Amino acid sequence: MYIMAFESSCDETSAAVVEYKDGKFTVKSNIVASQIETHRLYGGVVPEIASRAHTEAISKISYEALAEAEISPRDVGLIAVTANPGLIGALLVGVNFAKALAAAWSIPLVGVDHIKGHIAACYLDADGNVPKPPYVALATSGGHTAIYKAESYTVMRPIGTTRDDAIGESFDKIGRIIGIPYPAGAGFDALSREGFIEATGDSEEFYSKYRRSAAFGEFNLPSPALRDGSLDFSFSGLKTAAINLLHRYEQNGEELPRARFAARYTYEAVEAVAQKIDEALRRNPGCDLAVAGGVAANSHLRKRLSELTASHGVKLFIPPIKLCADNAAMIAAQGYYDFVSGKRADSSLNASALDSEC
Ligand code: KG4
Ligand code: ZN
Repeated sequence: MYIMAFESSCDETSAAVVEYKDGKFTVKSNIVASQIETHRLYGGVVPEIASRAHTEAISKISYEALAEAEISPRDVGLIAVTANPGLIGALLVGVNFAKALAAAWSIPLVGVDHIKGHIAACYLDADGNVPKPPYVALATSGGHTAIYKAESYTVMRPIGTTRDDAIGESFDKIGRIIGIPYPAGAGFDALSREGFIEATGDSEEFYSKYRRSAAFGEFNLPSPALRDGSLDFSFSGLKTAAINLLHRYEQNGEELPRARFAARYTYEAVEAVAQKIDEALRRNPGCDLAVAGGVAANSHLRKRLSELTASHGVKLFIPPIKLCADNAAMIAAQGYYDFVSGKRADSSLNASALDSEC
């Protein structure tokens, strides 16, 4: 079966064709039209501009997705579209486009949850090396930092979340203050690497040596892992402490050691996630871990979680970097499972800015 999918929840318009055959997904095309350059001027996503850019791009990339997959509309067996959560105006562009296609082509339609979609990027392995429920899932993006127990491919039970900011959002905000262009995640990752190496003098094993280095004590930053027995986070405390620290440097006219500061910030963020995932794996013995979302591209987080899962004797599933960010292929994979479980949408499908009851 060929699934055609659309994603327009934030600042990337994407259309994809994914084939499901013999128990495996194959990505036939996955076109992403990024608006990042447009939003960079404003230091963040401007919702109205995002909606307009989606409207301009969606039709063109749909043709591209079909052409690259070398299929025609009559080969498509299912249309999947991100319906929530996200920017409401942006989501509506994809939802309305998908509804029109489904009606015109007489093809079934499903509305997909964006967060489940991110996790479904882990199912897109051509060799079929994918997580099997039950497993623990971490969704880590610009808008989410959440831990789930995947009971099945369609039922994700939330077991931990952020009580305020998401990890990606915090990288973006602090990154902006220290001069990293939006979205700051990848730049923060690279700058932190420099800082870890500077602090430890080791270009390979820097992360594990960092805590014992003299540079660790250079900055005082709190952990975003809540100490209340839950699997929850609070990234706003870390963010506020970092902003205050940056203000002090400015007021004192001191030059900030940017790379070492970024390293310490990244360390606190990554360790908090590792600590909660460690606990989640302890509470769910034998469960593998699937990690997805834009921040899953973070090299330090990938390495730390790879070591952590190895110490638990379980597998880590984490998509290749290009499937961590927003894309429609992941929506196709989740759409397939939603469809198989009986989910259907019709012309009454609406978008929602809110999280669904996973
Ligand atoms: O999943 P995503 O593409 O969009 C949302 O659904 O939010 O995630 C975007 C987020 C941004 O905050 C971006 O800065 C962050 O992912 N990001 C990273 C890295 N690459 C992207 N954060 C940390 N390290 C990275 N290498
Ligand atoms: Zn996303």
